[in-house]
Amino acid sequence: ITIRKATIEDISAMQNCNLHNLPENYQLKYYMYHLLAWPEASFVATTITGEEDLTTAEAQDVKGDPSYVRKGEKVVGYVLGKMEDDPDAEDKTPHGHITSLSVMRTYRKQGIAEKLMRQCLFVLTETFKSQYVSLHVRESNRAALHLYRDTLKFEVLSVEKSYYADGEDAYSMKKILKVEE
Ligand code: ACO
Repeated sequence: ITIRKATIEDISAMQNCNLHNLPENYQLKYYMYHLLAWPEASFVATTITGEEDLTTAEAQDVKGDPSYVRKGEKVVGYVLGKMEDDPDAEDKTPHGHITSLSVMRTYRKQGIAEKLMRQCLFVLTETFKSQYVSLHVRESNRAALHLYRDTLKFEVLSVEKSYYADGEDAYSMKKILKVEE
């Protein structure tokens, strides 16, 4: 598995991965916006593959979207990171936000999400001088909660009632980053 910076060419594979793994989906222009505005802050996890190596489930994915496997490289996970840029945001301290993170089912529990997140947090700190990073996660999402709270030491700031379209509450989480002067 290789973790590398996401490029515009990866967008449709990232979107495909997102559609498989999460009910929160975005238009291509929103991926594009992330990569244009903060080109260093999003990453993909890829693996080299020939089509003959694909499992049946993966082959079905490929049929659905050929961009999933491009030039023998398969995107199996991504993190979409950004800086908060809402002019109406209450807190004017420069801070980052994790828009979306997911790893394809057959590649989970190998540390890929942790690696994607650590790369993203590093760039938000070093390149964008982010003082902290925020994210939202479903209350029922045990895997992601474990990753954020236990592995990466995010803290739960608050519960946002009915944050998600289906009515589920979100934990609003935050991690303070160390900016070297
Ligand atoms: N149950 C409990 N703990 C888990 C689980 C699980 N199902 N999956 C992973 N973990 C733990 C690991 O054991 C590891 O803990 P450790 O540091 O104590 O060893 C830690 O979480 C990190 O594990 P990784 O292997 O790095 O995580 P993985 O690559 O499997 O990806 C992810 C985790 C992204 C949550 C994956 O399960 C996934 O894609 N889920 C569906 C999409 C999703 O929920 N994304 C997050 C939404 S929130 C947001 O996008 C801001």
